[in-house]
Amino acid sequence: MFIPVIMAGGTGSRLWPLSRSAYPKQYLPLASDNTMLQETVLRLKGAEHLAPLVICNEDSRFMVAEQLRAIKALECPVVLEPVGRNTAPAIALAALQAIADGEDPLLLILAADHVIQDQKAFLTAIEQAQVLAQNDAMVTFGIVPTHAETGYGYIKRGSAYNDAFKVDSFVEKPNLTTATEYLNSGEYYWNSGMFMFKASRYLTELEKYQPDILAACKKAIGNTSNDLDFVRVDKAAFEACPDDSIDYAVMEKTDAAVVVPLDAGWNDVGSWSALWEVNEKDDNGNAIKGDCITHDTNNCLIQSGERLIATVGVDDLVIVDTKDAVMVASKDKVQDVKKVVEKLKAES
Ligand code: GDD
Ligand code: MG
Repeated sequence: MFIPVIMAGGTGSRLWPLSRSAYPKQYLPLASDNTMLQETVLRLKGAEHLAPLVICNEDSRFMVAEQLRAIKALECPVVLEPVGRNTAPAIALAALQAIADGEDPLLLILAADHVIQDQKAFLTAIEQAQVLAQNDAMVTFGIVPTHAETGYGYIKRGSAYNDAFKVDSFVEKPNLTTATEYLNSGEYYWNSGMFMFKASRYLTELEKYQPDILAACKKAIGNTSNDLDFVRVDKAAFEACPDDSIDYAVMEKTDAAVVVPLDAGWNDVGSWSALWEVNEKDDNGNAIKGDCITHDTNNCLIQSGERLIATVGVDDLVIVDTKDAVMVASKDKVQDVKKVVEKLKAES
């Protein structure tokens, strides 16, 4: 048994104009009729687990509660962060909350915005991870890389350990030259961004490598107030917490990391091109949502909002129409969409 901890506090700026700060991608139905948060919960069906704990920004609380209710995921505690301090503190709050009543459960840390096509393979990997985590390992799930992506963590496979591998090294978001070396060596996995460990194990590692984060989170959770099913932490204490991700704060440094290989059609849907990949396509390779008419159009992602989109003689484009913005981008440049968001922020 384990507690799924769903981290849902990111902003997802590379999926603008659909993903906005008030409506980040995890709360949108991007790859199915369910939102990505709902899919994250539903995908666990078939595993024996305790009620998932969701951790998110306090501004998203009603959206989260409503989306959980809609899939009958009742009784999920929702921990609210007054500000985002990245994933290391978010997981610390979850771990402290999980041990509050004297238990020391296993935590399965999940991102709220991943697509996993093969649920069975995912559940098998979780089974495997539970045995390892029970033995005090900090378990990661490794994806065989297909390109030199610089937005991911890289895990170097060490010696065999049960059905998994010890982690030789963990490097978060290397530059392109390094990522290319890693890819070509065949010895690295991508870090999927999911983890499993005992709650106490994470806290011990955090204390060793980032004691300031642990101290701030202890203070913040020591002064919680409950509001419906929401757990609110102390604002001033949490604001004072350093900002860092679990990857830099703990996983790059720990000696206890183990990697379970995961071949389950994983995709972190970090960009419009990733979304094109996971969506169903017509005979011309177009992934189309809404009211669209195409002629001589290939390998495009087209999403209409309130009006018809017509395309003629175009290839490899992303076209997204929303109420107040239209974006047209070349599919191989979509990583730069966040530059538009930065420009917009600078102008506003
Ligand atoms: N509660 C909370 N608070 N959640 C957060 C916060 C926060 O401050 N910041 C991010 N999250 C959530 C996001 O919503 C997402 O579900 C998850 O945590 C991961 O955060 P990202 O910001 O998307 O991380 P990343 O994609 O740059 O990198 C991570 O994931 C990659 C795979 O997708 C790392 O773990 C990489 O090593 C990994 O390869
Ligand atoms: Mg991500």
